[in-house]
Amino acid sequence: MCGIVGYVGEKKASPILINGLQKLEYRGYDSAGIATIENGKLSIVKNKGRVSNLNSMPETEKSMGTVGIAHTRWATHGIPSKENSHPHYDNSNTFAVVHNGIIENYNEIREFLKSKGYVFYSQTDTETIPNLIHYYYTLDNDNDSEEKFLKAVNSATKDFIGSYAIEVISYLFPDITIVARKDSPLVIGSGINENYIASDIPAILGYTNKFYLLDNNEYAIISKDTINFYDISLNNIKKEIEIIDWDSTAADKNGFDTYMLKEINEQPTAIRETIYSRIPMKNNKFEKCNFQDLGFTKEYLSKISSIYIIACGTAMHAGLCAKTMIEKLCRIPVTVDIASEFRYRDPIISEKTLCIFVSQSGETADTIAALKLAKSHKATTLAITNVIGSSVTREADYSIYTHAGPEIAVASTKAYTSQVALLACTAIYFAEILETSDTNTLDTLKNDLLHLSEKIEEILSRSNEIKEFADKVYEQTDMFFIGRGSDYNVALEGSLKLKEISYIHSEAYAAGELKHGPIALIEDGITVIGILTDKDLAPKTVSNIQEVITRGANTLIVTNQELSTDNYDSVIKIPDTNSLISPILSVVPLQLLSYYISMNKNLDVDKPRNLAKSVTVE
Ligand code: AGP
Repeated sequence: MCGIVGYVGEKKASPILINGLQKLEYRGYDSAGIATIENGKLSIVKNKGRVSNLNSMPETEKSMGTVGIAHTRWATHGIPSKENSHPHYDNSNTFAVVHNGIIENYNEIREFLKSKGYVFYSQTDTETIPNLIHYYYTLDNDNDSEEKFLKAVNSATKDFIGSYAIEVISYLFPDITIVARKDSPLVIGSGINENYIASDIPAILGYTNKFYLLDNNEYAIISKDTINFYDISLNNIKKEIEIIDWDSTAADKNGFDTYMLKEINEQPTAIRETIYSRIPMKNNKFEKCNFQDLGFTKEYLSKISSIYIIACGTAMHAGLCAKTMIEKLCRIPVTVDIASEFRYRDPIISEKTLCIFVSQSGETADTIAALKLAKSHKATTLAITNVIGSSVTREADYSIYTHAGPEIAVASTKAYTSQVALLACTAIYFAEILETSDTNTLDTLKNDLLHLSEKIEEILSRSNEIKEFADKVYEQTDMFFIGRGSDYNVALEGSLKLKEISYIHSEAYAAGELKHGPIALIEDGITVIGILTDKDLAPKTVSNIQEVITRGANTLIVTNQELSTDNYDSVIKIPDTNSLISPILSVVPLQLLSYYISMNKNLDVDKPRNLAKSVTVE
């Protein structure tokens, strides 16, 4: 998740680009850069840190170009550094590119280009793009022309597996920029004698409210007075202009009322970007999961006698899902521990223990302390985080990343689903090395993982059903969440979300545990939310739900099973998937439920009372 901006017009481009980037810092803020065309040459100004740093760089002051591209980065490949910042250019400094998304097959493209003599200076996937464009451009013997430029961009993008929104400029064509997109947003704002480009409308809403929305596999050549659109075969296409009427607050949140709702809606993209490169395919067949960044061997993993997953809050709930997956697929015992407990209870760990630390921010004090403790006992440590270069990654032996982009709302949503998805890939990777599960089982699970994003989109499209339930129950003071197996893990997360942002007291129980005490609290009108996604356990949970209905409970059921809807007050049907990863789907209605309840109560959804996004104190 990064932000991109572009300008083609008659004014000095750099202030417009920097102003646009500042509006996009919620998409990424570890480095920023701009490229303009100055006196027939590409000029690139970039650095690590916030966008405001660009203002104080003398090169920005000198830049007079009226065509430019710009980028604010949230690191996915390579640490935040000047070398890894965008724009990137090819070896001959002919093409400059900014990119939002992930080129999953960048390693192969890099190797191919190296074999043709290209040299790489960064760790990014993006640096392959200008070089591949240059490769195709020079392969074509035609004279320089905009058409030849477009063809080179088209040929390069056809080689990419993954997602991209790109802007390309070249000193050979000082009056235009070429843009393309697949699975990453890109809009073009239309002005008079000037046109704008951005990954998100807010970046350029101050200049125009007339937008063209580029679709997947579409291209555009943009000059100050023309915008020509093309499909993947480079046929000219027509697009309708859209008028966007957003106020400035909505614009900051990309049209959503709150960051939390924006982030809930970003989950399909976050999951896609986190796992697609981990699940490679060749000739329509799955290959082994791609974890070159870990490189564990069978010899090493066979020696691991137990795994600890250590985290706090929502990240710990993601760990609970991983326990079920790893134990089922790899047959290694897994203990999930709360970091603040683990660090003080003399845990039994040794060099035969693998300790996995899950943290969205990578800065949670208890998690970092637990990590240091594990290291002091010689355990192998693996960090799973959303922030490249964060403290846990600097301490851990190994780090792998979710690519959820910055999460700003205090209540974690997209980080959780991305963590569960990445942990599922990790469990498959371990099982493939250890040969503890058959290929068919693992391939089916991979297939289910790859379909999660579209299934979340389906759930999101029915958000109004959850809102209706929220409208009925928002004044309640206590609620219960129940489920068994993976559904219990989700119940815990649903209950935490509700507490955090709606200030309603709630409890999560394993459904079978109710009769051992908590059922005494069930009385007329109390809300019980049942999660039923595991067909083997569903009949048991149905009986437990019946027990609370008999005692007067008002029920909301989140399920992928065929249930008789007459028994329950509301049923939210979600798409079916493997029960190991069903939390990624079943949590979405629960996130939305908390969200709508909080909105109904006029609470500050993004900044709930007493809570901080990153808990850097004990
Ligand atoms: C989630 O909604 C919470 N705000 C909180 O539980 C959070 O997950 C926890 O503090 C851990 O944060 P981390 O993932 O950044 O380590």
